[in-house]
Amino acid sequence: MDTSLSPTAALESRIASRQARIGIIGMGYVGLPLALLFSEERFHVTGFDVDPAKVEQLNAGGSYIVRIPSTEIAQAQRSGFCATSSYGEIASMDAVLICVPTPLDEFHQPDLRYVRETAEAIAPHLREGQLIVLESTTYPGTTEEVLLPILEAENPSGLRAVRRNGERGFYVAFSPEREDPGNETVARRDIPKVVGGLENTATALAASLYGTIFQRTVPVSTPAVAEMTKLLENIYRCVNIALVNELKQLCERMEIDIFEVIDAASTKPFGFQAFYPGPGLGGHCIPIDPFYLSWKAKQFDFHTRFIELAGEVNTAMPYYVIDRTANALNQRKKCLNGARILVLGLAYKRDVDDLRESPSLTIIELLRKAGAEVCYNDPFFPTVGRGRHYDLNMSCTPLEDLGQYDAVLIVTDHTSYDYVRIVAESQLVVDSRGATRGIRAENIVHC
Ligand SMILES: NC(=O)c1ccc[n+]([C@@H]2O[C@H](COP(=O)([O-])OP(=O)(O)OC[C@H]3O[C@@H](n4cnc5c(N)ncnc54)[C@H](O)[C@@H]3O)[C@@H](O)[C@H]2O)c1
Repeated sequence: MDTSLSPTAALESRIASRQARIGIIGMGYVGLPLALLFSEERFHVTGFDVDPAKVEQLNAGGSYIVRIPSTEIAQAQRSGFCATSSYGEIASMDAVLICVPTPLDEFHQPDLRYVRETAEAIAPHLREGQLIVLESTTYPGTTEEVLLPILEAENPSGLRAVRRNGERGFYVAFSPEREDPGNETVARRDIPKVVGGLENTATALAASLYGTIFQRTVPVSTPAVAEMTKLLENIYRCVNIALVNELKQLCERMEIDIFEVIDAASTKPFGFQAFYPGPGLGGHCIPIDPFYLSWKAKQFDFHTRFIELAGEVNTAMPYYVIDRTANALNQRKKCLNGARILVLGLAYKRDVDDLRESPSLTIIELLRKAGAEVCYNDPFFPTVGRGRHYDLNMSCTPLEDLGQYDAVLIVTDHTSYDYVRIVAESQLVVDSRGATRGIRAENIVHC
């Protein structure tokens, strides 16, 4: 390292020469792909995770995320990628990017436990000139009100964050993740990266670092602006999905095909973006993130009515699917109690191996409560056990002998399913995704 340079210039120079050491905390759906992108760019990356099984698997060159082949881990290892649970190594990192979970607690309030624990773990190892970036989705104010006070209070040398240009200390920024699992249409590098630092140098350093792996960075004035940007993006999706979910129910009463309506509206070259109805929200983001903002808004004596209404509509969708299934069985002089139902798809969306907040889990539980005998098929999940909100203890049933089920319920429209065959072989298909739209058959009920 050139010791004549200021800490800022030294970090800039190490980023430009790819010598900067990057620590990524949380080797999950966000952190691991990010680590691989930096490794591709020849940075030496260390992945930190509290889960020893993940650390062991990564160091053995393996992958636990379906869309990331182990060859990519092996490739990254050639650039020096390794994983660890030992926070002592933070001291040798030039930049530390935090990608830990931000769930809701049982009262639907932000659970920042993982962010706090991470801050407590890295604080003792901070050193001057380091760049700390929070990527986890959260309410505006988290970086400055939660992360920063812990980093400053818990480091033994009394090191402080740089708040004004020219001060000495460590740099802090927030940069939201815009990962869209399963989306093959946009390369990760082509997704612009928003960065908001505590002051200009932190923003510039974060922009330089991310500028090595993203085509475009979008600097904003504060971490809170960057935090709010991410929430706006997800609330926009949540509200628009609620709108089409509500209109779907109206269209069904009016015997209008909502998908045909959306396709026709999508031909408008301006002012309209297509969102599609479904069985309810899933994934780590859309069902959760909006409530981070509605919780924070209460501190300002403000009620986020759009978020609450969208939440109400979207949360009711699995119940609507159950009602439609019961009605469809009723038409055939059958009832849900005792019916044999095959649920197709456990994942929260098409072609991903992610179960978090999946509407399938709620739907299976509701079906069981109603007395149905439930099986599932999902190529991504050979078994499903117990999670934070469910306890199913089931194994994947092969897609055979479909005629034995009173209903086959499509909850996730994986592309590997042969829908023509499924419709041909089933007594009744209840389709909550529009997966069978192109098929004309008497035994399909849309919901
Ligand atoms: N998954 C997505 O598509 C997506 C998209 C955009 C934003 N986000 C946001 O990114 C953040 C991370 O999400 P994710 O999907 O990667 O979560 P994840 O659960 O897949 O991964 C998080 C990882 O962090 C690890 N971890 C937890 N506490 C830790 C600690 N103290 N130290 C080290 N490791 C720790 C966990 O073991 C886990 O491996 C969340 O805030 C989420 O809202 C996720």
